[in-house]
Amino acid sequence: MKLNNKVVLITGAGGGIGQAAVRKFVAEGARVMLADLGTDDTQPLVDELGSDLCACVAVDVTQDDQVENMVNACVKTFGGIDVFVANAGVEGEIGDIMSTDVSNLDKVLAVNVRGVWLGLHYVIPVMRDGGGGSIMITSSGAGVQGSPNTACYNASKHAVIGLMRCAALEVAQFGIRVNTVNPGAVETRMMTSIEDGFAEAGAGDFKALVEAGTPLGRYGQPDEIANMMVFLGSDDSSYCTGGVYMVDGGNST
Ligand SMILES: NC(=O)c1ccc[n+]([C@@H]2O[C@H](COP(=O)([O-])OP(=O)(O)OC[C@H]3O[C@@H](n4cnc5c(N)ncnc54)[C@H](O)[C@@H]3O)[C@@H](O)[C@H]2O)c1
Repeated sequence: MKLNNKVVLITGAGGGIGQAAVRKFVAEGARVMLADLGTDDTQPLVDELGSDLCACVAVDVTQDDQVENMVNACVKTFGGIDVFVANAGVEGEIGDIMSTDVSNLDKVLAVNVRGVWLGLHYVIPVMRDGGGGSIMITSSGAGVQGSPNTACYNASKHAVIGLMRCAALEVAQFGIRVNTVNPGAVETRMMTSIEDGFAEAGAGDFKALVEAGTPLGRYGQPDEIANMMVFLGSDDSSYCTGGVYMVDGGNST
C-alpha cells in the first residue's frame, strides 16, 4: 500500500473530491483526519471506514484559531501529519466583473486563498518537526486559464499556485514537498452549482462548453482526482515539488 503508516489531514473532506480522496487514502493504508465545515458530511464516512483509521473535525478554514485547532486535533489523534491536502474551496457567484459585487471576491479569496495560507502556516512546523511530508493544494484548470463569469474563482486558483511555489522553495530544506492538483471540471456539487449559475446568468450551457473544449470529451470523476492525490502524497512522487499537476482531460492544453 502506497500510504502505509502515513497520517493525512484533508480539508473539504466532506465534498465530492474530498470524500473520494479519503476513501483512496484509507485504502492505501493511511489514517485520515477529515476536516470540513461541521461534521454532517464527514462523520458518516468516519463511521463507515472505522474510527481507528479516521476521525473528523469541524473547521472554517478562514478562521485562524479554528485552523490551529484542526492541526492540533490531527496531531493529538494520530501523532503528526505526513500529508496535508488543502482542498476546501468555494466557487462563489457566477457572473461578470461588471455585474457582481466585491463581496463575492472577498468571500472566495477568504476560503480559497486565506484558508490555504492558514493551513500552510500551521501545518508546516508540524511537518518540519516530524522530519518532512507532502502538501498539496487543490487549485483548478481555472488556476492556469481565464474564463468569463468566474473571475474571483480563477483569481483565487491562480493565487494558490503562487502560494505553492513560494512554500515549495521555503520548505524543501525540511524535506517537505508542495504541489498543486489542478482538476478540470469534475462531477461534484460544485460543478452542478456552476452549471446552474451559468444558466441563471444567461452565460450558456456550461457542461456543453466544457465537453466541447476538453480533448477527452467529458467531465472528470472525483476518483480520477483522488488518484493524483494518492500519487503526490506517496513516496512515488519523492522528486516532485513546486509542480502544477493538471488532471483535466486536456482542457488546458
Ligand atoms: N468540481 C470541480 O469541477 C472542481 C474543479 C477544479 C477544482 N475544484 C476544487 O476542488 C476542491 C473540492 O471541490 P469539490 O468539487 O469537491 O466541491 P464540493 O463543494 O463538493 O466540496 C468543497 C468542500 O469544501 C468545504 N468548504 C467550503 N468552505 C469551507 C470553509 N470555509 N471551511 C472548511 N470547509 C469548507 C465544503 O463544505 C465542501 O465540503 C475545491 O477547492 C474546488 O475549488 C473542483
